[in-house]
Amino acid sequence: MMMSPKIRVFTFLTLWSVATTAFVVVPFQRGIRDTLTQSRQDSDVSQSTPSVDEEYDNRPGLNRRQMFSDVLLRTASICSCVVCSPHSAYGLAQITAPPAKDLKQYDLPRNQLVDAAFAQGMSTGMVDYEREAFPIKKGLFKKLFASLDSREENVVVEVGMGSFPNALYYKPMNGLDIIGVDPNDRMEGYAKDSAARAGLVPKDNLRIVHGVSEALPLADASCDAVVCTLTLCSVVDPAKSVAEIRRVLKPGGKFLFWEHVLSQTDPALAQQQVQLTPQQVKRADGCHLDRRTGDVLRAGGFKNLDMEYIELKNFGFLNPTVCGIATA
Ligand SMILES: C[S@@+](CC[C@H](N)C(=O)[O-])C[C@H]1O[C@@H](n2cnc3c(N)ncnc32)[C@H](O)[C@@H]1O
Repeated sequence: MMMSPKIRVFTFLTLWSVATTAFVVVPFQRGIRDTLTQSRQDSDVSQSTPSVDEEYDNRPGLNRRQMFSDVLLRTASICSCVVCSPHSAYGLAQITAPPAKDLKQYDLPRNQLVDAAFAQGMSTGMVDYEREAFPIKKGLFKKLFASLDSREENVVVEVGMGSFPNALYYKPMNGLDIIGVDPNDRMEGYAKDSAARAGLVPKDNLRIVHGVSEALPLADASCDAVVCTLTLCSVVDPAKSVAEIRRVLKPGGKFLFWEHVLSQTDPALAQQQVQLTPQQVKRADGCHLDRRTGDVLRAGGFKNLDMEYIELKNFGFLNPTVCGIATA
């Protein structure tokens, strides 16, 4: 039986979307979830730290109260006069073009469908992880912001911003110039949602630009702070990335980092991390479980490195973590 061209196109599109969902999106998201749920027990974090539930808000949906305040915030944001928005950022840092040879080497072609699945997976699949990390991350961001000069308009760059789960930590600050750099363009919508939910708009300027950590699109010594969380595991070249972060920081500028690493205390876990890394790289956008990021940071030439090795409880291969603040 002959099908009309319209029906043929319709049938092809339907089959194609079913096939990509079944064979790409679902397995990909399952990969992220499997890694996260490895040896995970039900978290008791919210019981031990009751403030987490109150303060932590990175869930995919909004409840009624949040929706209401969201609507109010968005309505208020219509007025951007100096009275309503006294802290609006004004001296925006310039986005520059990195050397073409670096882009060719590090900004590699990407698969849009995989990027979309990974962005969706990161924005919804990391809630429990972020909840456990919350008390420590909160302390780090507090320290970072306390070190900035509140009379200045501070430029803060999030390298590998992803879906911007860190947005809620920026809440107490006003008038920041926030620049997110990420090679996965499909993260932008989720990042903007996180920013809006955290109430960062319109008091803070948020720009999200395509780029890679190995060739940051920023001038030398142009940033007051750089933030990088769960990204040095995925980049092509961690040492070059850290050198770039130091290059764009002003002298005395701060670098807040939070990275999962190879276990330093459990040889059996470390061995598994090494063995599983090739599979993880394929399933989770280049994520390595076996990186010694602490060593890279120590060799990074910072004036001061305040680094801690910690272990989360509920995230298996992602438990061993280095975090802290370095000073350029
Ligand atoms: C595991 S996600 C973490 C995202 C976010 N920082 C967080 O804490 O959830 C890793 C992010 O690094 C980005 N990424 C991968 N390679 C990169 C590179 N070379 N430079 C900058 N970002 C990169 C990915 O697109 C992704 O958004």
